[in-house]
Amino acid sequence: MALWIEKYRPTSFDEIIGQKDSVEKLKAMVKNGDIQHMILSGPPGVGKTTSSVVLAKAVFGNVWTQNFMELNASDDRKLSVIQGKVKEFARSRPIDAPFKMILFDEADSLTQEAQQALRRMMEEYSSTCRFVFSVNYQSNIIEPLQSRCAILRFQPLSKTDVYEFIDRVAKNEGLTMDNEAKEALEYVSKGDLRALTNVMQSLSNISKKITSMAVYANAGILDSGKIKQGLKLALSGDYVKSRETFETILESGINMKEVISEVFDILSSSDDLVDKKSKNYVIEKLAETDYRIVEGATPYIQFQSFLAFLSSLKG
Ligand SMILES: Nc1ncnc2c1ncn2[C@@H]1O[C@H](COP(=O)(O)OP(=O)(O)OP(=O)(O)O)[C@@H](O)[C@H]1O
Ligand SMILES: [Mg+2]
Repeated sequence: MALWIEKYRPTSFDEIIGQKDSVEKLKAMVKNGDIQHMILSGPPGVGKTTSSVVLAKAVFGNVWTQNFMELNASDDRKLSVIQGKVKEFARSRPIDAPFKMILFDEADSLTQEAQQALRRMMEEYSSTCRFVFSVNYQSNIIEPLQSRCAILRFQPLSKTDVYEFIDRVAKNEGLTMDNEAKEALEYVSKGDLRALTNVMQSLSNISKKITSMAVYANAGILDSGKIKQGLKLALSGDYVKSRETFETILESGINMKEVISEVFDILSSSDDLVDKKSKNYVIEKLAETDYRIVEGATPYIQFQSFLAFLSSLKG
């Protein structure tokens, strides 16, 4: 099965979401035929590697693979590699192109020593080769290299950007989801589209309908909004609906112990669910429920009884 992170990797500038400033700069370089050495810095999964490859394709056309070399973190980063493989590539003649391009992906891990060697190489071979560094932190690149590079800052993607990407994948894969699920995807992936794509792909194997519950459960996170909603239902006297809500929470693979501890956090920290007078009483009941479970009573039945108690407060 093909990996979605490859399937959905943009192949042209137009497909790159957000990153307007950086993309504009890159496009201008292509247009003017003036490609500089560059540092692309920014958080994970926002398009740095993607943009470098798109740039290489735009500059070199169908001879891009011959003129573009990518070294990633799994490659040897030692000085010997820089002086061997890299040097050989940098000094060799470009093929049907004015220069070659080499991408140091995840360059944060390049040693100082290696960077010093690169600095000399950049001077020596700047007529035949352009150096591109992709990093999470610009400060991991030594000052003399920074000063030789144009710096392109990749921004964290906005919610709208992330949603655009989700919609693109969902549409193409025939996935359905509501807004809550999208919010959950954005939340668990923290704007890292690589992480996001992987979550979507693994959830799609379970069901074409993606729910927020499934997203949170996949990330091992409790959906506290959903738990609060279940508590509200119970406190409004609707025991049946409340029970159903908690059933879906438990079905997503979260265990009772985690649910109870979240219920405790919610009840003890919020003042809008139960009034001050009942609060102590409710928490006492919850502690009792917890105790019985620890003692060996059936967790599910004990928790139902707690919900029934909450519902009875209304009457
Ligand atoms: N701006 C973007 N527009 C569209 N897709 C994107 C964008 N950024 C990332 N992606 C998607 O996420 C995947 C990973 O992106 P990419 O490898 O470019 O991230 P990166 O910024 O290099 O991250 P890292 O710092 O972890 O190397 C791509 O395959 C692509 O599907
Ligand atoms: Mg990358």
